[in-house]
Amino acid sequence: MLLEGLKRLEYRGYDSAGLAVIQDGAIQSEKVVGRVSQLDELVDDRFTGVLGIAHTRWATHGGVTVPNAHPHFDEKHRIALVHNGIIENYHALRELLLKKGHKIVSETDSELIAHLIAEYMDGNVVAAIQRALTHLEGTFGLLILTLEDPNRLIAVRQGSPLVLGIGDNEYFAASDVSAFAQHTRQVVYLRDGEMAELTPTGYRTMTFADRTVVRRPDEITWEIDAIEKGGYDHFMLKEIFEQPSALRNTLAARVRADQGLARLGGITAYSDDQLRSLERVIISACGTAWHAALVGEYMLEELARVPTEVEYASEFRYRNPIVGEETLAIFISQSGETADTLAALREAKAKGAHVMGICNVVGSTIATEAGTGSYTHAGPEIGVASTKAFTTQMAVMTILALQLGHLRNLSLETYSTILNDLVKIPDLIERVLETDPQVREIVPIFEHTTNCLYLGRGINFPIALEGALKMKEISYVHAEGYPAAEMKHGPIALIDENMPVVVIAIQDPVYDKVISNIEEIRARKGRIIAIATEGDDRIASKVEKAIYVPRVAPLLTPFLTVVPLQLLAYHVAAAKGCDIDKPRNLAKSVTVE
Ligand code: M6R
Repeated sequence: MLLEGLKRLEYRGYDSAGLAVIQDGAIQSEKVVGRVSQLDELVDDRFTGVLGIAHTRWATHGGVTVPNAHPHFDEKHRIALVHNGIIENYHALRELLLKKGHKIVSETDSELIAHLIAEYMDGNVVAAIQRALTHLEGTFGLLILTLEDPNRLIAVRQGSPLVLGIGDNEYFAASDVSAFAQHTRQVVYLRDGEMAELTPTGYRTMTFADRTVVRRPDEITWEIDAIEKGGYDHFMLKEIFEQPSALRNTLAARVRADQGLARLGGITAYSDDQLRSLERVIISACGTAWHAALVGEYMLEELARVPTEVEYASEFRYRNPIVGEETLAIFISQSGETADTLAALREAKAKGAHVMGICNVVGSTIATEAGTGSYTHAGPEIGVASTKAFTTQMAVMTILALQLGHLRNLSLETYSTILNDLVKIPDLIERVLETDPQVREIVPIFEHTTNCLYLGRGINFPIALEGALKMKEISYVHAEGYPAAEMKHGPIALIDENMPVVVIAIQDPVYDKVISNIEEIRARKGRIIAIATEGDDRIASKVEKAIYVPRVAPLLTPFLTVVPLQLLAYHVAAAKGCDIDKPRNLAKSVTVE
């Protein structure tokens, strides 16, 4: 059961793995550097206990070694724990424990917690843990078992996700529901500053100060096959192909072309007057979600005419941003747990901004703390490279831009055009997915290259960035995204007969300008791959290969142009034999700053 759960969670970190169970009056454990499958081979059928913990690691403190892998133990091997997060007062704690004579065997911050608990252990496990917690600064999601009380598992949450699974005479705790979703659909999301004790007969949730907290379980709404590969070789490919259905879910009940409706229920906390009088929007996010924010910026400025800025969440809180109650601050995050985005949200709230979260994971910290916002309803995204989360984030941004635009002088004609095209997007993506065989034909151009460029203009500039990010993170080909016209200010120096350049050249108001950029690349013998509009008969003679997407309102073209770029990155990575769903050094949700 533990190994099965770990396999489901492996996408969140995968440099080493380990588990510990209470068995025959002792804590038995095993750890490996590498994947859960290696741990599985090592463990075989040896462990038979009924209480255990397990972990896959994404290294923060200390290298990728067996001693640094979790679980960690106290000196007497009577306490075992797994930890997500970072203990910020690590140095001071380590010094303190060393002075007290503790023998510390790893370089991790996590091991110190087990030693600290041991300091306070006097038979009452919960009290000892609570006293130890008062010394910890930083973030921690902890699962702890002890020989003092071999029927009790303690779960602790501070700044790192933790959710309980309430089964039939069985109880679970994990950083993500997918770890135990095949055993129970009843879940309790712990909040920061809360902990839980689980025994074979029940559970109790309480604060760190031991005040009981009563919370009714929520129910998981998605089906178990959402976290299976369903016949695809990789989750990423499955998720690329799921985009039409994911988008239908995002749009459902929010967009009705026949009724002229585009409305996010999640922001009804703000009155129409408040939304009408907004002076500014700030959107903050990381990685792919930041690219969705850039697309959102174009949409909001174009349709709602509201000045919009996009900020890297990791920079936002450290530069004393100017935000107040005239600002709507939007935070986009698939996982809803990204530490940088969460910190930015807290900063904006503290400064009095109206806030809104756009998250995929229901019950996640950003969704909960934002209070107001919309879920993308893309279903679980397991592949580390984000795909369906991106297109559904763009869909929520489009609805928001239409909704604000409607309140702020957007012409009925434009409103209807965008709305009518928006509802067609899932079907149009289905058509784009049919270009998969043509995308595969391009792979040899990239398979042996170490560099490539992605160019786009206007609302397709963020798609150039996203295409480049997909390529570099899963195939390890260095890829740069650039606004097409910026190329001549520097990157053009890189172009020669070995440089593939992907140009998004759809027929929109800047099409002729992009064709000029293509000519500049041709003149320097670059190898050009174009993402073009169906029916464009000019482009084929100018480029080595063109992939055609259906015609749609220019503002909505990112939904279509991104799909061949996702497929391209996928097939290049597959041809190179890369570990597509678990690219090196990455993790699905980055819960450390
Ligand atoms: O869960 P989030 O959307 O907050 O994650 C943000 C980024 O870490 C994420 O988009 C990352 O860039 C992906 N690996 C991109 O494919």
